[in-house]
Amino acid sequence: MLPFVRNLIAPSILAADFARLGEEVELVAPYVDLVHVDVMDGHFVPNLSLGIPVITSLRKVTDLKFDCHLMMQNADRYLPEFKEAGADSVTVHLEVYPDPRAVAEAAREVGVEFGIAINPPTEFSALEPFVELCDMLLVMSVHPGFGGQAFIDDSLRKVEQARNFVESHDLLTDIEIDGGIGPATIGRAKDAGANVFVAGNSVFRHEDPIAAVLELRRLIESRESQ
Ligand code: DX5
Ligand code: ZN
Repeated sequence: MLPFVRNLIAPSILAADFARLGEEVELVAPYVDLVHVDVMDGHFVPNLSLGIPVITSLRKVTDLKFDCHLMMQNADRYLPEFKEAGADSVTVHLEVYPDPRAVAEAAREVGVEFGIAINPPTEFSALEPFVELCDMLLVMSVHPGFGGQAFIDDSLRKVEQARNFVESHDLLTDIEIDGGIGPATIGRAKDAGANVFVAGNSVFRHEDPIAAVLELRRLIESRESQ
């Protein structure tokens, strides 16, 4: 692993109490690196979550970067609105954009960082031709749509492939893993080569979210020193 790879913890607000969303984010903000925002359209995934007005409101309570995971069919139509609301990065799905060059270009024009996500059935090889369009690659370790699902081990193989590809091409692309990340899985995700760790239930449904984040960071750092 290259020494300058940053480890970033990205709590997913999907697991927060939406009635107290600002407070929940402010509580963990000093201890985390990003805020992971799951946008779902009830079409690409069988669930609805939140949208642009929530991002606009949340922007008022924190300067943390908003890592917006767009589980939606027509993300490209809304990029200016996401930027305006306060998104720092947008990640779209390869399953929605099998040729993501136009949406990547649109994200650049709007001025947000760009990532591509792959679902559990999608192989890393499908993403390979587009890695250089991306600031971040997102390997889903659950089927998207819901928090609190069990981690799918096969995703580690794809994280390893992504890390090998990035390193062999001298890229600094972040590799994010999303779904089922907690104390039992984060070490293996780190070992496989992930450096951005989304954690929903394991942070916001924990009785002490700050302690939960500190423990996740300790587990990552303990792998680093091995
Ligand atoms: C699932 C979302 C995830 C989810 C993760 O579709 O993309 O970001 O919030 O939740 P946990 O960490 O609880 O699996
Ligand atoms: Zn997500």
